[in-house]
Amino acid sequence: MNLVLLGPPGAGKGTQAKKLLEEFGIPQISTGDILRDAVRRGTELGKKAGPLMAAGKLVPDDVVVSLAVERLRQRDCARGFALDGFPRTIPQAEALDAALRQEGKKLEAVISLQVPEETLVERISGRRSCPKDGSVYHVYQKPPRRPGHCDLCGSELVQREDDKPDRVRERLAVYAAQTAPLEAYYARQGLLRPVSGMGSPEGIYAEIKKTLGRS
Ligand code: AP5
Repeated sequence: MNLVLLGPPGAGKGTQAKKLLEEFGIPQISTGDILRDAVRRGTELGKKAGPLMAAGKLVPDDVVVSLAVERLRQRDCARGFALDGFPRTIPQAEALDAALRQEGKKLEAVISLQVPEETLVERISGRRSCPKDGSVYHVYQKPPRRPGHCDLCGSELVQREDDKPDRVRERLAVYAAQTAPLEAYYARQGLLRPVSGMGSPEGIYAEIKKTLGRS
């Protein structure tokens, strides 16, 4: 089950990747999570990536490719993986193809979540995350039991710096210019599986499984 979850910011890639992990045990590989962790820990990578992420811009391809490829080589990816937020540019997709080829692997499908822009903005502006364990909530759609606090560890929830309205606009523009062309790239390879990202997370997940022939 070697999957890519493709879709604009707020499309629900992370939400669906977690469901795949729960049911099939395939790891969620989120380059955004890896980078945010590096920023929190103040590593060299974090210092380089932090300002770009906060501004809603992409981190350079060479940086992201090497961390994604390194992660894919870990043992827990042997039976599959769900890439969330990677690849994001054509050069990243080409580098992924080459890395998988080297390991004798290939992608099974690219799930492309389709969500209209006004819904993306609504989802992103209401998102709150736990800085400690990474749990993701939404103030209306998925509120925590105790307002403003993580259900799992009780930490105070935060809004991602890049979820502020002006950064969201920049991220959507970056998506349209640099990531949307991946749809045609994967369609040419016969891997693209468009799925509506509207409705309940459970309903969308059921559609994804149907598309993959695993319902
Ligand atoms: P990243 O962390 O990858 O962010 P993103 O792609 O912008 O995606 P999001 O995390 O915003 O959205 P999502 O689709 O995962 O939605 P979610 O499930 O959370 O990247 C951040 C930054 O890191 C980039 O801007 C860039 O700087 C850098 N970066 C990362 N990867 C890179 C790469 N490959 N190359 C270069 N730079 C890179 O859901 C969103 C909200 O909606 C949540 O609150 C959720 O609860 C709610 N929700 C989800 N599904 C539903 C539903 N069906 N109905 C109602 N609410 C829902």
